[in-house]
Amino acid sequence: MSNTESLFTPVNAGSIAMANRFAMAPLTRARAEGHLPNALMAEYYSQRASTGLVITECSMVSPETSAFGNDPGIYSDEQVAAWKQVTDAVHAKGGKIVIQIWHAGRAAHPLLNGGKEAVSSSAIAINDETHTPEGKKPYTKPRALTKEEIAAIVEDFRKAAANAIKAGFDGVEVHGANGYLIDQFLRESANTRSDEYGGPIENRARFLFEVLTAVTEEIGADKVGLRLSPLNSFQDMKTEDPVGWTAWLAKELNRFDLAYLHIMRADFFGVQKADVVTPARENYKGHLMVNMGYSAEEAAQAITDKQADSVAFGVPVLANPDFPERVKAGAALNEPNQNTFYTPGAEGYTDYPFLDA
Ligand SMILES: Cc1cc2nc3c(=O)[nH]c(=O)nc-3n(C[C@H](O)[C@H](O)[C@H](O)COP(=O)(O)O)c2cc1C
Repeated sequence: MSNTESLFTPVNAGSIAMANRFAMAPLTRARAEGHLPNALMAEYYSQRASTGLVITECSMVSPETSAFGNDPGIYSDEQVAAWKQVTDAVHAKGGKIVIQIWHAGRAAHPLLNGGKEAVSSSAIAINDETHTPEGKKPYTKPRALTKEEIAAIVEDFRKAAANAIKAGFDGVEVHGANGYLIDQFLRESANTRSDEYGGPIENRARFLFEVLTAVTEEIGADKVGLRLSPLNSFQDMKTEDPVGWTAWLAKELNRFDLAYLHIMRADFFGVQKADVVTPARENYKGHLMVNMGYSAEEAAQAITDKQADSVAFGVPVLANPDFPERVKAGAALNEPNQNTFYTPGAEGYTDYPFLDA
């Protein structure tokens, strides 16, 4: 058995007491019919409650901004009530859970949203296709948000955070990664605005900072995490200087005194490459969570070497509801089935076997 002991030490992420250094990375699974969480989702998340922190799939802060069809929301009272069964189930197992709060921006297709036009920082379409109820279609050209609309979305994030607390979550993770709306402001390739929300990084970060100000005011900074993906080229994103970008943001984020900063260290497609964990660690004073492609062994080494405070695992936790127990026992892992990542129902969702099964 390899030495993974460092992963089994407790740590705080703001006010959230994590029992170990494992986090369940946010994973869209598209099982929320009608954008409502359900009993199957409560079972799925509670199965994974032995990770020190469960981070839910991205959940809409504004209506009619769906990017996947059956993605959950956290904007309505009905959704708050439905999420309660999820948070109760995770807490009953002694786990902690935060919800990833999200606006898809230009990734929301009108065919998934009653014809509603997509919006973004600028009127630039993603040069790709997406799944819609009418089959695969090109992404549409979004409309550039007005300043009034930006302010309204900031308020949607604030309300989503308040709703999350009402629903029993231990906090929220603001989704600033993977080419969605916040990232569409942060990164040059999507943002050609000429007002105070475009141009230099000080301006491109304005929307993110407004969201963080609203959300931390609403629920307390010690319950707010943030996810960033400096390198991800998914959805046509590009960063000219990912290391400088990461260093600047990590430093500026100190003033928000967040529960944690969650950095994705790689690109889904392996196009953009750099070490972004080191500049994040050097400039950020709080809890640093890292993710992407970590084995338990590499994660344990990163904790031992103090490169990070916790490590989020995506696919390993998707396929292994008892991932920490398996690591501790040095047991074999279940193989993930990619065909059922986004399909409805329990298959490939709640039926991955536990070690003792
Ligand atoms: C099925 C699937 C769904 C995902 N959904 C989300 C999501 O909702 N929000 C997010 O920030 N990242 C999402 N990701 C990215 C994962 O959080 C994670 O970064 C990725 O799986 C790499 O980590 P890993 O190597 O430990 O799996 C998703 C990844 C997969 C495979």
